[in-house]
Amino acid sequence: MVRTTVSVIKADIGGLAGHHIVHPKLKEIAASELAEAKSSRIIEDFYITSVGDDLQLIMTHRKGVDSSEVHGLAWNTFKKCADAAKELGLYGAGQDLLKDAFSGNLRGMGPGVAEMEFEERPSDPIVVFMADKTEPGAFNLPIFKIFADPFNTAGLVIDPKLHSGFIFEIMDVIESKVVELSSPEDMYDILSIIGTPSRYVIKRVFRKVDREIAASISTTRLSLIAGKYVGKDDPVAIVRAQAGFPALGEILEPFSFPFLVAGWMRGSHAGPLMPVSERDARPTRFDGPPRIVALGFQVKDSKLIGPSDLFSDVAFDETRRMANFIADYMRRHGPFMPHRLGPEEMEYTTLPEVLKKLEGKFRHE
Ligand code: F6R
Ligand code: MG
Ligand code: MG
Repeated sequence: MVRTTVSVIKADIGGLAGHHIVHPKLKEIAASELAEAKSSRIIEDFYITSVGDDLQLIMTHRKGVDSSEVHGLAWNTFKKCADAAKELGLYGAGQDLLKDAFSGNLRGMGPGVAEMEFEERPSDPIVVFMADKTEPGAFNLPIFKIFADPFNTAGLVIDPKLHSGFIFEIMDVIESKVVELSSPEDMYDILSIIGTPSRYVIKRVFRKVDREIAASISTTRLSLIAGKYVGKDDPVAIVRAQAGFPALGEILEPFSFPFLVAGWMRGSHAGPLMPVSERDARPTRFDGPPRIVALGFQVKDSKLIGPSDLFSDVAFDETRRMANFIADYMRRHGPFMPHRLGPEEMEYTTLPEVLKKLEGKFRHE
């Protein structure tokens, strides 16, 4: 049986008018690079898009996860786009390409990666999520709800294939350790750590009955790689749908609530995550608010059929209205917590430079 790998690889390699959108020229370059790779069968299919200032390469292939060929293709594509970004004078050209030379794998090099390999079912729907102006931990709440909350996912209660639950692989991004916990038995343990999304990030989810992969999320923390503030790590995720996995609507349901995430202006503020269509993935207000796009595909013979732009549904209009309301409310706090993030997270921003200047001015009381 043929096994298909879906790789979603993204990077911010330069923005048009600041940290805003990707210039169409970069998408053209990426499309022509991937078309060439498709004709030489490095990949089987691809779809290029952008969310805010992040260029997104959605690819299918038969090389498995962590393939040096596929990662190398993404790296070289980003490099070419970065060269064009420099020529066009785009803002922050090449900013997420943190290393000079590619050494076989994108891990620790800057771009965000979510990948999964599976044997295709006769009909295999997936959802690709892409967010801008937030961090990988932003997926903790919705992924938990999709795979562990019976008030979100009816199938956990009434579908025998989902009823035994899911396994969560959770990464401690500060100490680079992972732990596997099982829902429903370990539900409270899971929540005790993923409620700190800046540190504990759900990386993968497996179906318990057969350990089949169900979801994969990017876990890059740019500031931890670079040792300094380089923006938030605008994350991506892949989730499998239907027939033994949560239904499409169960996967989208958590996003009907515009929950607060870290990111927004200067990666330093809490704000509502707004679900939007590809067309509306253009953050402006206070460099935001943070937003997320969801694309639905069918995977067939390692080809991508689709996409459908899932949050373009009017059923999410009310969520967007609420997100705008919350954005107003949060903004009125100005530089005060909890709108501005707490001190631990500000350590990874430019605030320490400002605080250093103040050090000498304090006197003991
Ligand atoms: C957030 C983000 C932007 C920038 C902000 C300042 O992830 O990328 O909010 O942090 O626009 O950017 P610089 O310091 O490049 O002027
Ligand atoms: Mg940016
Ligand atoms: Mg971005």
